[in-house]
Amino acid sequence: MRILVINGPNLNRLGKREPTIYGKETLEQIMETLEEKAKGLGCEIVHKQSNHEGDLIDWIHQAETDFDGVILNAGAFTHYSYAIRDAITSISLPAIEVHLSNIYARESFRHTSVLSEVVIGQISGFGKVGYELALRGLLHYLKGEER
Ligand code: DQA
Repeated sequence: MRILVINGPNLNRLGKREPTIYGKETLEQIMETLEEKAKGLGCEIVHKQSNHEGDLIDWIHQAETDFDGVILNAGAFTHYSYAIRDAITSISLPAIEVHLSNIYARESFRHTSVLSEVVIGQISGFGKVGYELALRGLLHYLKGEER
């Protein structure tokens, strides 16, 4: 199994950005840990980050040919990007939405995700561990195991 992990805007600032909300680890550190976890689970991950909406859309499209599923933290695009939502529905792969913070316990504009209807599940509020939870959930789904 090959899983594409996409991180969106401002997530390259992890470690420096509001550490009480997003934690002290950098995105590189979080992805390194996830790569290790992935090996242990017998799968491979590739991770990409961009601050630009079009990059996220292109990577979602490209995932269809080389990957079995997508894990996506779209950052603030989560709350309003119909273009990213349409990119997810344009491919036949399952996607999981991740948020480090609990978006429902924060400002009201974060309570809406325009992506949640088109992903197989959402993980929000578990910090960096959320990526591993998403990976486990996605593999479980891909293997067709009972819910
Ligand atoms: C986030 C939550 C979003 O509301 C915010 O804009 C982010 C990060 C999270 O991981 O908690 O950039 O997706």
